[in-house]
Amino acid sequence: MSLLTPPELTATAADTADVAEVSESLIVLDRTHAELNNPGEDVIAGLGRSPKTLPAQYFYDDRGSELFEQICQLPEYYPTRTEAWILQHYAAEIAQVTNSHELIELGSGSSTKTRLLLDAYRDTLGRCHYLPVDVSGGILGSTVNHLQVQYPEFSIQGLWGTYDQALAYLGTTQAPSRMISFLGSSIGNFNAIECDRFLQKVAAALTPNDWFLLGIDLQKETSLLEAAYNDRQGVTAAFNLNMLSHLNWRFQGNCNPDWFVHRARYNTVDGQIEMYLDCQRACDITFKTLDFQVSFAEGEAMLTEISRKFQLTQLEQQLNRQGLKTVQCWTDPQSWFGLVLCQTQ
Ligand code: AVJ
Repeated sequence: MSLLTPPELTATAADTADVAEVSESLIVLDRTHAELNNPGEDVIAGLGRSPKTLPAQYFYDDRGSELFEQICQLPEYYPTRTEAWILQHYAAEIAQVTNSHELIELGSGSSTKTRLLLDAYRDTLGRCHYLPVDVSGGILGSTVNHLQVQYPEFSIQGLWGTYDQALAYLGTTQAPSRMISFLGSSIGNFNAIECDRFLQKVAAALTPNDWFLLGIDLQKETSLLEAAYNDRQGVTAAFNLNMLSHLNWRFQGNCNPDWFVHRARYNTVDGQIEMYLDCQRACDITFKTLDFQVSFAEGEAMLTEISRKFQLTQLEQQLNRQGLKTVQCWTDPQSWFGLVLCQTQ
C-alpha cells in the first residue's frame, strides 16, 4: 500500500530540514491538498487585528512540540492525564463500538494517549491502519518510526501537514470504516466560527459508517484553569514565547522574544483561557520573507491562543448543526474532561 506523495518541489530548504527522511511511511501534504494557502498570510492578517493575534498553529515547530510534551507532564496541566484516564477506562469500549479499520489522528504529536486506543484496536480487531497527522515533521517522523516497531501488525503512515490539508486529502481516499480522532481538546483553539468550519470539514470526510472521536476540556473553576496555563516551572511561558522564535525562523523575522512576557487568564464570559504575549517596550518588527512590518506599543497585548472550555450540551448542539450526532460520551469522575463519539446523520 503506497500512497507516497513526493515532497513539494518548491518546498524551502527550511521546510525540508524539519524532517530527516521522507519515506513511504510519511506523506507530505502539499498545497495540492489544501485550499488556497499562502504561507504567512495568516500571520499578516492576525497582526493587522486589534488586539494583535497570532495563529496557534505556529506554536508547533519541533521545539514547540517538545515544550508541549513537557506541558502535558506538568502537575498543573490536568487535561492530558484526565483524558488518558478516560481512555484507560473506555478505549476497549470505543474500539468495540466503532470497529474501524482506519484511525486518523489529527494533531497527533507523540501519540502517547493514542497508544491506549491502538492497544484496544489491536485487542479487538487485530490490526488497523493508523494515520497520524501533524504539522511538526520531526516529531511525526520519529513517532511513526517508534510505532512501527511497537505495532508491527499495523500499517502506519504519517500525514505531514495541517488539519485542512489532511481532511482534504482524506476526501480523496476511501476506507470501509474510519475513525477520525481529535484529542486533547485541541478543538478549543478554534473560535466558534472556525470550529463550525472545522466540524463541517470533518463531517464531509466521513461516510455514515465512520466515526469522529473528540476530546474536550470542560468548564470548571477559574483557579484550576488558570493554574494549568501559568505553571510554576514556566514551561507554558517558554512554549508561548517560542512562537516568536519559530516565526523569526520561518519568515526571517527580527522579533526579540526577551521583549515579551507570557500571560494567561480565564475569560469567564466566553468560557476560554486566553494566552497573551505582552510587549514590554515599543518596537517595530519586520518579517523579511513576508515583506511585512508591524509596530508594537509599550504594554501592548498580543493574543496567541484561546483555549475554549466546553459545556457538553452546548457542544452537542453545535455538532448537531454540522450533521454530527453524538452516539456516546465518556468523562472522568470529576467531569473535568469529555470524550465525545459521533457519527454523521
Ligand atoms: C493543545 C490546544 C489543547 O489549549 O490546553 C497548553 C495547548 N497551550 N498550554 C490547550 C496549550 C498552553 C493546548 N491544546
